Amino acid sequence: MKMASYLVTGGAGFIGSHLAEELVRRGHAVRVADDFSTGRRANLADVPGVEILEGDLADPAVAARAVAGCDVVLHQAAIPSVPRSVKDPVTSNRANIDATLNVLVAARDAGVRRLVFAGSSSVYGDTPTLPKREDMPTRPLSPYALQKLVGEDYARMFTRLYGLETVTIRYFNVFGPRQDPGSPYSGVISIFARALLAGERPTIHGDGGQTRDFTYVANVVDGVLRAADAPAASGRVINVATGGRVSLNELFDRLRELTGATVEPVYGPPREGDVRDSQADIGLAKALLGYAPTVSFEEGLKRTVKWFRDSA
Ligand code: UD1
Repeated sequence: MKMASYLVTGGAGFIGSHLAEELVRRGHAVRVADDFSTGRRANLADVPGVEILEGDLADPAVAARAVAGCDVVLHQAAIPSVPRSVKDPVTSNRANIDATLNVLVAARDAGVRRLVFAGSSSVYGDTPTLPKREDMPTRPLSPYALQKLVGEDYARMFTRLYGLETVTIRYFNVFGPRQDPGSPYSGVISIFARALLAGERPTIHGDGGQTRDFTYVANVVDGVLRAADAPAASGRVINVATGGRVSLNELFDRLRELTGATVEPVYGPPREGDVRDSQADIGLAKALLGYAPTVSFEEGLKRTVKWFRDSA
C-alpha cells in the first residue's frame, strides 16, 4: 500500500515534532512547514527524511507551497500562549487566524483529503460545568482562545462550503519532552521541571488551586493521527485529553518528588485571562476515534522529568 503524504505545519515545534516523528516511524512521507519563531531544527534532529519548508504561513504563497502534493494536513502552527496573546493580540491573530485561513484555502485548492486543526481547551473559558463536553457553550477569555475558536469555526465552514474534510482536536494542556521551557509563555510543566531540576523556586500564579487536564503528548499524537483517518470524524470538534484534573499545587508536589527538589514555590498574583478549572469529557473521542489515553498523567510526568534531566 502506498503510504500517504503528510504536511505538519509547526512541525518543528513541540507537538508538531512528535507528530512528524510518529508519522516517519509509520513509514509516511512527511513535510514540515515552520517559520522557526518558536520551533527548532533540533526538535527534528532524530527524525530522518523529513522535508523542511521554512516560511511564514500568513503568506498565502508559502501556504500553497506547503500543501502541494500532500494528502493530509496536520495544522499545528500557532503562537500557542494565552498571556502572549493578551500582551500582543495582533501578532497572535496573524499566526493563529490569518495563517489558518491561508492553510485552509491552500488545502481546498490542492485537493487535500483531510485537514486536522489543533484546537484548544481554552475556548471553553470559565463555563461552570465540568468536565467540558464539545457541545457546551464556548466563552473565550483571551485573544488566544478566541483565535482558536475562529480557527475551528473556519475549519467547519470549509467542510460545509467546499467539502474539505476537517477535524478539530481540542488539546488540553499538553506536556512532554521537547516542550521549550525558555520563555515566560512556556507551558507550566516545562517551566516547573526545569526550575526544580536547577534548584530554583518556580512561581505559582494565584493560589495554586486552579486545575488542568494535563495531557502527555503521546496521547495527543495518537488522537490526532486517528482523526486524520476516522471516517466519522469529518466536520467534528473533538476533545483529546486524559479526562482527569490536577491542581497546580498538586502538580508542584509531584514534580518536587520526581526531581528530588526541596524548594517551596513563590506565590504571585493570578494571571490575566487564566481559566480556573479545565477537564475534558473524552467520550466523543472514544466514540468517533476509538481513542483512549495510553499514557497516564503520572507516567507522562516521569518520562518528562527524565527527559529534562537527561537534556539539561
Ligand atoms: C492554555 C490552554 C491550553 C493551551 C495553552 C496554550 C486552558 C485551560 N488551556 O493553557 O489548552 O494549549 O493555553 O498555551 O486554557 N502557571 C504558573 N506558573 C508559571 C506558568 C503557569 O502558575 O510559571 C499557571 C498558569 O497561570 C495557569 C497554569 O499554570 O493557571 C497553566 O498555564 P499554562 O501552562 O501557561 O497553560 P494554560 O494557559 O492553562
